[in-house]
This record gives sequence, C-alpha cells and structure tokens, in this order.
Amino acid sequence: MQAHATYPSLAGRRVFITGGASGIGAAMVEAFSEQGAIVGHCDLAADAAEALAEQIAAAGHPRPWFRALDVTDTPALQAAISAFAAASGGLEVLVNNVANDTRHDPLEMDEAGWRRCIAVNLDCAFFASQRAVELMRGGGNGGAIINFSSINALLGPADMPGYATAKAGLLGLTKSLARRYGMDGIRVNAILPGWVVTPRQLALWLTPEAEAEWMEQTCLKQRIQPRDAANLALFLASDDSRMITNQHFVIDAGRV
Ligand SMILES: NC(=O)c1ccc[n+]([C@@H]2O[C@H](COP(=O)([O-])OP(=O)(O)OC[C@H]3O[C@@H](n4cnc5c(N)ncnc54)[C@H](O)[C@@H]3O)[C@@H](O)[C@H]2O)c1
Repeated sequence: MQAHATYPSLAGRRVFITGGASGIGAAMVEAFSEQGAIVGHCDLAADAAEALAEQIAAAGHPRPWFRALDVTDTPALQAAISAFAAASGGLEVLVNNVANDTRHDPLEMDEAGWRRCIAVNLDCAFFASQRAVELMRGGGNGGAIINFSSINALLGPADMPGYATAKAGLLGLTKSLARRYGMDGIRVNAILPGWVVTPRQLALWLTPEAEAEWMEQTCLKQRIQPRDAANLALFLASDDSRMITNQHFVIDAGRV
C-alpha cells in the first residue's frame, strides 16, 4: 500500500475529466474524489461509470457527476461541461483524457476513419478547452487544463500514425492555450505517459512478449499503474504547481 500526497487546495475544486469511466480516467475520478474535489466526467461507457460511482460512494466520497456521451459530439460535450459547472457552481480544472488507440495500417485508413481518429484524440480536447476557458475566466480564479498526450507523440509508433499525430497536436495545443490564457491565471500542461497497465491495454495489446520488450527499454522495471499518472494530474491541478504552465511531463519509467 502506497501513501499518497494530500493537496489541500484541491478540496472543493471543480474538476471535469473526459473519458473517466475506465483506465487512467477512472483512476483520476477516484483520486480527485479522495482529495475532496467535486468531480464530473463523461464517457461512452455508462455501466463502467456507474460501477465506479458505486466504488467511490462506498469509500465515503460523493458520487461523481456523470454524463454518457460521445466526445466527438461537440455540442453534447460542451453542454455537459456547462451543466457540470452549473450544478457545482463553477469549473477550475479540465482534464482532456479521452482517447482511442486502435491500431491501423496507414494505407488502409479511409478519410472517415482518419477524421474520426483525430476527432476523438485531438479535436474534443480543443472544444472542451474552449468551453472550460470561458467558465474559468468567468469564475475569475484562473484554472488548470491538463492534456493527456503520449510518448507516442515523440516516438512515432508504426502502427498508429493517426493517434500519434493527434497526440503531437495536443502538445501544440497545450503551448498555444498556455500562452494565450496565462494572463487569466489559466495554466495548461501536458502529460505524456508511457505504457500504463489499464484494463484495455491488458485486454488488447499488453502481451507477455510486448511487455518484456517494453521492460528492456525502461529504467524502472515495474509496471506503470493508472494511479501513477493520476498522481501527476493531481499535482498539476493543485496550487503546489501554481507557477508551472506550458510544459510537457513524461511519465514512462524512463523509456524516452
Ligand atoms: N494506457 C496507456 O498505456 C497510455 C499511454 C500513453 C498515453 N495514454 C493516454 O492516457 C489517456 C488515458 O488512457 P487510458 O489508457 O486510460 O484509456 P482507455 O482506453 O483505457 O480509457 C479511455 C476511456 O475513454 C472512453 N472513450 C473512448 N472513446 C470515447 C468517445 N468517443 N466518447 C466518450 N468516451 C470515450 C472509453 O470508454 C474509456 O472509458 C489517453 O489520452 C491516452 O492516450 C495512455
């Protein structure tokens, strides 16, 4: 059992997370709830979100606010962020976490597939940030936006160019928004995880052979857990990181 930090500044803070029903997103919904933050999230997976809410309530924390939606539906996404802010009295933190890392052959991807890939992995982060910035500026207390990129933005995986393109795009978006809204006290940072052991990775990609190869390439010979990435997000959302913005943080056990 590891001991985790407590950030008093996160208590009562309004935090919205995209793709919060499983994986790193679920770890963040749980971790922010443990800090006393008021947490809202959205996801396609309503059943998983319900199970997560039960788990968080059983631990003695308020049930997170949730709306089932597809993040590529921009009006629905922006309406959900607005509804969460209206229900909780504001918004101080947005975590653009949602993604889809389905592998694809570049020569076999059609235009609709490419656009869908960029929509779920990049575009929704822009449109969620747009709504969040409006709410954060309205609140007058600044805010924090955390974009989940990936070390694949730096490494260039051969089997997911669409995902890597979107994740590289998030790095530019992070810097551009940080520059534009720093004067409003809004900080924007990116997290670039390495291979994090989520249920999806275990089910689809993390074979014993692939994991052995990964472990050869890292400094730390241990699995990265969703909570490890969530811990970095807590720090970047808290006042302890109040002078950190416009940055990219790799958390990959030393792979890059
Ligand atoms: N797990 C890793 O190894 C890893 C590595 C590098 C970067 N990342 C990044 O970290 C973030 C979280 O990754 P993860 O592994 O926890 O992801 P995941 O695939 O385990 O979870 C993503 C969540 O998003 C939801 N979702 C997917 N498409 C959606 C859509 N169109 N609308 C609404 N919800 C949708 C899924 O239902 C799921 O709950 C992502 O941005 C990912 O790219 C993860």
